[in-house]
Amino acid sequence: MNENVIHFVYLASVACFILSLKWLSAVPTARRGVTIGVLGMLLAVGGTLLDPSIEHYRYLAGAAVVGAIIGVPMAMMPMTAVPQRTALSHAFGALAAALVGTAEFYLRTPNLDHFTMVALTLEVILGALTITASLMAAGKLQELLPTRPIVFRNQNIVNLSVLGLAVVIGAILIVNPGLAWLFPIMLMLCIVFGVLLIMPIGGADMPTVLALLNSYAGLSASMMGFVLNNKLLIVAGALDGSSGLILSIIMCRAMNRSFGNVLFGAFGQVQTSAAATEQKPYRSASAEEAADLLSSASSVIIVPGYGMAVAQAQHKVRELFDVLTKQGCLVRFAIHPVAGRMPGHMNVLLAEADIPYDKLLEMDDANPEFPQTDVALVIGANDVTNPGARHEKGSPIYGMPILDVDKARTVMVIKRSMNPGFAGIDNELYYMDKTLMLFGDAKGFVGEVVKALASE
Ligand code: TAP
Repeated sequence: MNENVIHFVYLASVACFILSLKWLSAVPTARRGVTIGVLGMLLAVGGTLLDPSIEHYRYLAGAAVVGAIIGVPMAMMPMTAVPQRTALSHAFGALAAALVGTAEFYLRTPNLDHFTMVALTLEVILGALTITASLMAAGKLQELLPTRPIVFRNQNIVNLSVLGLAVVIGAILIVNPGLAWLFPIMLMLCIVFGVLLIMPIGGADMPTVLALLNSYAGLSASMMGFVLNNKLLIVAGALDGSSGLILSIIMCRAMNRSFGNVLFGAFGQVQTSAAATEQKPYRSASAEEAADLLSSASSVIIVPGYGMAVAQAQHKVRELFDVLTKQGCLVRFAIHPVAGRMPGHMNVLLAEADIPYDKLLEMDDANPEFPQTDVALVIGANDVTNPGARHEKGSPIYGMPILDVDKARTVMVIKRSMNPGFAGIDNELYYMDKTLMLFGDAKGFVGEVVKALASE
């Protein structure tokens, strides 16, 4: 097959990947982004199959069957298991890169030039640590492993020493690829480092780390492109690596965490503030009282959070949206970028319940609307509505942009108790005169409100 044809197919594939990333970054075009991404991958695989140097197609067919056997059940995993599934995908991508790197090393050593050895070493280091780190992350997210952070004395020193040793061995191999006995030691150190990296991180913080692992797997694939002299892999890996990195930076910023904090894995410990134990007065109300207030409201902004996801209350929330809209009330949803536990968590759940996209407001669009809004109805959200983020300097969420629900005329908060949210801190919103606490499971409580509204 003419090499130019393969290059052309690769070029088309790269164009699809770039368009896919562009379209995936906005909700209305996201579906199109997925389709073109799949097309890009089909072209990439198709172009590779045209390579005249392939001798035995039966091995590739066997690999495709194994891939399908693993991939199809993974694709069937429920929406709520998307983070775990993503972690597993990274583990497989990284495994492929590490295996190819290892095979290339043993096939070509000692005839590897320094440039190729730099790329190969980076490929194997990033690939190997990402395999175990991603498997650990998937285990924690699926709660197969303890989700709490596991910490020990001098953890960062131990972790960095293991990685440092692997990097030193890598440098020796770059200078002298003939010292092949060092290669498996480097590989093992990286595999151990992957486990150590994830141990101190709590399950709830895993999505941020996943974005970083995505980046590592992508960079490893990009390095593999240099080793194999495959331009498609170089570009696709770089796109994957940089988008993962950008996503992790966005998530860190939205949570007001430093990037270094993520890199050293020293976070995930839930903090409890003294204020949380202090008894302060607050007002609570029943579902019927809440329904009364809602029935006289002409504008409502619903703020969903992690609790809505836990309770799987999105369909009941849809019913509430319908009944209020029917009564002539303007109902919209305000989405905080880190509400829930993964990027786009609330968007996915609300889309599942068929809530129209044009009713979803991003934080910057929602905040100017709160002062003119009759009721801000917070459903299982906590940290993302905490006004303390604006002024409490010692708070772990200080500086995190929040949804200004406290500026609405009335605030209602559905949650089960006065317990804190992810950051482990008390929320001063709950003690404001305009706030009504509605205690109960989000699904059950919203259901009761809908029933009360419908019978009015
Ligand atoms: P949180 O601050 O975690 O608060 C969730 C609240 O939901 C809790 O206070 C809890 O109170 C309530 N809840 C739990 N189960 C419930 C149920 N069945 N029914 C009703 N309420 C329930 O959530 P948030 O406001 O969405 O903020 C997200 C937090 O996660 C932020 O701190 C963010 O930094 C962090 N985070 C986000 C991400 C991404 S990418 N989204 C990734 C990692 C971490 P009760 O126990 O009293 O019910």
